Amino acid sequence: MGIEETVKALQAIGINELYLGEKMEQKEDRWKLLRELYEQWKDCKRCDLHKSRTQVVPGDGNPYSPIVFVGEAPGEEEDKQGKPFVGRAGQLLNKLIEEELGMKREDVYITNVCKCRPPNNRKPTPIEMKACSPYLRKEIEIIKPKIICCLGATAGEGVLGKSLKITKVRGQVFPYPYDPKIKVFLTYHPAYVLRNPKEEKTLREDFRKLRELLSQLS
Ligand code: URA
Repeated sequence: MGIEETVKALQAIGINELYLGEKMEQKEDRWKLLRELYEQWKDCKRCDLHKSRTQVVPGDGNPYSPIVFVGEAPGEEEDKQGKPFVGRAGQLLNKLIEEELGMKREDVYITNVCKCRPPNNRKPTPIEMKACSPYLRKEIEIIKPKIICCLGATAGEGVLGKSLKITKVRGQVFPYPYDPKIKVFLTYHPAYVLRNPKEEKTLREDFRKLRELLSQLS
């Protein structure tokens, strides 16, 4: 049983403290905090995307992960299932997480800049991104990752708060504006690579850099 399952099992029987050597430390329940956050947002009507969405799609995965992946917004399949990156782009992302990072999807945390599907999968507008930004900011505050990996320019813009050219900045690291200890790494969106298969090589290279960065930080 891993630490995450152990903590869950203990919490299920009402044990919320773990004895860690010298002192008792309270394990902060990030799952609970994220559930509460979702409860606050699940009926959100801050922008027009609520009119066409099936549901708000919250982040998914391990809130104790050192890395958070951020995409643009849910697509058709994500909107149906209520989970981010479960379509074709998600399958490629899962594959790269396994093959290049040596991790499993369940080990990392995956979310989007916008939590509702834009009609016909168009890019979210600046107004929609701004309306949704407190949700992502709070997720990052709860998870406190070492690295945020932005998948594509829109994700990078949502996280860094400025427009950028992904071909210029991919593979590079920037400080997260709200907590400069956190590193923001930028790479291509897997959907772009599905449309341009020759770029898979570049995406893989970036994931290897990401692995290196993770090993330096842990
Ligand atoms: N593309 C995204 O940016 N996010 C998803 O959740 C799925 C596809």
